[in-house]
Amino acid sequence: MEYLVKVNSELCIGCKACIDVCPRDCFVLNAEGKSEMGSHLCHSCGHCISICSENAIKHRDINEHEYLMISDILESKMKDGGQLFYLLKSIRSTRKYKSKSISKEILTQIVETGRFSPTGHHAQNVEMVIVESPKTIQQLKDETAVAFKGFLKKIDNPFIRFLGFLLGKGDSIRKARGSRARFVRMLSGFAEGSDYLFHDAPVVIVFHAKTRGVVPLENCTIASTHMRIVSEGFGLGSCYIGYLVYSSKYNHKIREILNIPKENTIFQVMIVGYPKHKYRTFVARNPAKVQWK
Ligand SMILES: Cc1cc2nc3c(=O)[nH]c(=O)nc-3n(C[C@H](O)[C@H](O)[C@H](O)COP(=O)(O)O)c2cc1C
Ligand code: SF4
Ligand code: SF4
Repeated sequence: MEYLVKVNSELCIGCKACIDVCPRDCFVLNAEGKSEMGSHLCHSCGHCISICSENAIKHRDINEHEYLMISDILESKMKDGGQLFYLLKSIRSTRKYKSKSISKEILTQIVETGRFSPTGHHAQNVEMVIVESPKTIQQLKDETAVAFKGFLKKIDNPFIRFLGFLLGKGDSIRKARGSRARFVRMLSGFAEGSDYLFHDAPVVIVFHAKTRGVVPLENCTIASTHMRIVSEGFGLGSCYIGYLVYSSKYNHKIREILNIPKENTIFQVMIVGYPKHKYRTFVARNPAKVQWK
């Protein structure tokens, strides 16, 4: 099977930026010190194309007409009020951070943005845990590994799979099987000291709320999204971490570490830190599915 992505080795300077940003670890450095594709797990996010200063990367399915230079566009739009539109289009998930901590002052302002986010019925029910302690971050990783081992055991068990299909859960089982390679990668990463869960970010923010409260998922999602956007203004990068949300439903130790009250659920998690790389261009996305009536 051919890879979706090709690296032009004539152009590649071996800077490793694509290796750093690829969420699926698709790239490897070859004996000549050039990057090349080594995996079929690509999910077509387009990060590698955006980060490569040498335009050495081509993706079979990505049309590059949207890959305009962010710096050019932001500069030219400064005068006509289009900054926010282009700024939002330029925000990407960050998965490689500098080992630099974020000041309390900045974190407090980011939290303040969450506090002023809208909530259904003005419930103001979003609660947060700001995790900065490396020890606690490590505990969260350890307990996520426990959850992942449990998932693998379940999805690899033919009896449980058969039972699941009988109970009409075929779709969930197929989905979980599709994620198998990622669970395995995460676990092998932990064993080798690589952090595929939090990407070595200095801060993890956990959003939780009363499970039976007013639209808790929506409120946590809106608060975290506003906080992500404002983080960019402080020169920070961020990424949602659904893997921890998911794992917290199966391993209650995650909730204990974070002192989440019994009546609450973890609805969102995001990481924040100073990005090691700056995305140069916008990326391509599927056309919007919109009806105009
Ligand atoms: C709800 C949600 C959960 C996510 N969970 C993870 C995660 O656990 N780990 C991760 O690396 N990225 C996670 N992402 C980031 C997506 O993979 C990312 O948005 C996608 O690759 C597109 O890239 P972009 O955000 O740079 O446009 C999540 C995104 C969302 C919206
Ligand atoms: S980002 Fe571009 S130049 Fe750098 S290693 Fe990857 S392909 Fe080569
Ligand atoms: S498009 Fe995204 S997932 Fe695919 S190789 Fe590039 S960075 Fe990795």
